[in-house]
Amino acid sequence: MTLHSQNREKLENFGLSYEIIIKSPGRINLIGEHIDYNGGYVLPAAIDKTITLSFRKNNSDSCKIYSSNFKSSFEINLNNLKRSETEWQNYILGVVYHINIVKPNLVKGFDCIIESNLPLGSGISSSAALECGMAKGINELFNLGLTDIEIITVSKDAEHTFVGTKCGIMDQFAVVKGKKNHLILLNCKTLDYELIEANLAPYKIVLLNTNISHNLASSEYNIRRDECKIALKAIQMKYPNFNNLIEVKPKVVREFKKVLPEKIFNRALYVTKENRRTLRAVKFLKNNNLKEFGECLNRSHRGLRYLYEVSCQELDFLVDFSTNLDYVIGSRMMGGGFGGCTINLVHKSHIDEFIEKISGAYQEKFNIELTPIHVSISDGVTKI
Ligand code: GLA
Repeated sequence: MTLHSQNREKLENFGLSYEIIIKSPGRINLIGEHIDYNGGYVLPAAIDKTITLSFRKNNSDSCKIYSSNFKSSFEINLNNLKRSETEWQNYILGVVYHINIVKPNLVKGFDCIIESNLPLGSGISSSAALECGMAKGINELFNLGLTDIEIITVSKDAEHTFVGTKCGIMDQFAVVKGKKNHLILLNCKTLDYELIEANLAPYKIVLLNTNISHNLASSEYNIRRDECKIALKAIQMKYPNFNNLIEVKPKVVREFKKVLPEKIFNRALYVTKENRRTLRAVKFLKNNNLKEFGECLNRSHRGLRYLYEVSCQELDFLVDFSTNLDYVIGSRMMGGGFGGCTINLVHKSHIDEFIEKISGAYQEKFNIELTPIHVSISDGVTKI
């Protein structure tokens, strides 16, 4: 019996059952990495790996949260909301705090049980799933009338303030707006989006979890964001009309090669190229040119590795291995980087062979077990 069901049973024995149950998915991103916070185009989707959150009111001023994954619980005093020393609690505290700003004094005490089948720290955004699931559940429980965009925004704000990662909007957007069998082409500047059928057959998406999570991830993430700001500022001195790095053409960035420090130049070049690559990839996908679509993923990885420098040796090993196999048409690191997963487009008749070969090679090289994750593209956060 899981801790979750023990808790649920214990609580249900008190004669109270759960009013609201929410399923909140993780996300993948086909292409458009590290450009959401530069106002670029990204191509994410929600997946069938989810966090389940069960809610009920408790008629008090405090919230009792139980996590079956962390096998622990904590209490939130609604009259004294503050950061916790325990990281996962901050995702929840932050959401409650930010909802309270948008809808003051409407959140009352509640109990919540959280159960997850999303691997943590693997780059499929268990954090956005937790934040958006929490926001959606509180919204339903207290009839707050938050719009999808408000749910997305309070979740992102929670991450910026309570957690301290200055993430973009992609993860929360995909978790809330995901649609079965569709990719979301999202313009992160305007939040306009287009749903694109994920017609990838005969290829399937296979994630490979390195089971590595370098703790550089959060600090380096914020550094990349700052480096992009520095690049934009320097470019704006000559071209004041650019408001976002992605508006600048790679050709224009190249004019700054001798002006900008090499690192800053590389970051800017990557961002402007990745944005164009994403739009090109979407064209290939719409024309059913999957080989070229996959090639865009491969190029994206090279940019993330050499120019943006957010990869790591484990991810590079997996991508190098995969791109040498003719039945893998695209492979790259996914998400923030420094560990987590690669995303691979693998011919459906070679999936078992692929996993067996690459798991063996990875184990031999790093003495770490590789975890394959099969995903299907699913709906966003839902009340069940
Ligand atoms: C993390 C962030 C996103 C995005 C990706 C990189 O997942 O939360 O906003 O920046 O990294 O594309």
